Amino acid sequence: MRFAALSLLATIASAAFAYAAPSSPATNAVEARGYGGYGGCGCSDIQGIIGGATAALTPVLAQLTYITSENCTAEALTPVVAEIKDILTVTIAEVQGLVGIALIIVLTTVDGVLLTVADVAGLVCGLLNLICGALLIVLKVVATVELVVVKGLLVEILKLVAQLLFCLFPLIDGLLAAILVIVGGVVIEVIQLLSLTSVFYCFKTLY
Ligand SMILES: *[C@@H]1O[C@H](CO)[C@@H](O)[C@H](O)[C@H]1NC(C)=O
Repeated sequence: MRFAALSLLATIASAAFAYAAPSSPATNAVEARGYGGYGGCGCSDIQGIIGGATAALTPVLAQLTYITSENCTAEALTPVVAEIKDILTVTIAEVQGLVGIALIIVLTTVDGVLLTVADVAGLVCGLLNLICGALLIVLKVVATVELVVVKGLLVEILKLVAQLLFCLFPLIDGLLAAILVIVGGVVIEVIQLLSLTSVFYCFKTLY
């Protein structure tokens, strides 16, 4: 189970990086951009922001795959959830910082590649799959007595994810439509398990 869960995350993460195209070593890029201290990338391109968030979240989310029914408790999860929320909060601020910047700058990677809307959708869905894949693992092992409080923690994460999406949609025309085509079933499943369909009304055609 643990191995399967980890390789699932690894697959999802590499799918995300396949979209994050040209191949500077991800960890160096993230360190250079200050994610170690959650300072954000300080960049004005969407690939830098979403790719950086994905790279920063990957090891944190991986911790959730080691959770067992014994330690799937609010106490054990709270610090991990706090770290995930920190990274998402910085990411949201970075996306908000793109308002007013020319779309061509937002869509051009540091390597000078102009991303399509479908490329951005791929990056975003890679991130959504990564997060929801880890959350689903938690939801599968959590014991009934911990369910309500653990769900509460996971809801906080997904609410930030929704906020991130609603900052991205107005920036990039057609992004929601492109995401609807490829968004993973795991994302929809976790939204439904956490009773957040009204928060994620953007995906209403998929429920
Ligand atoms: C939960 O327990 C497993 C198995 O002992 C351990 O590997 C993991 O790190 C623990 N996770 C947390 C968050 O305490």
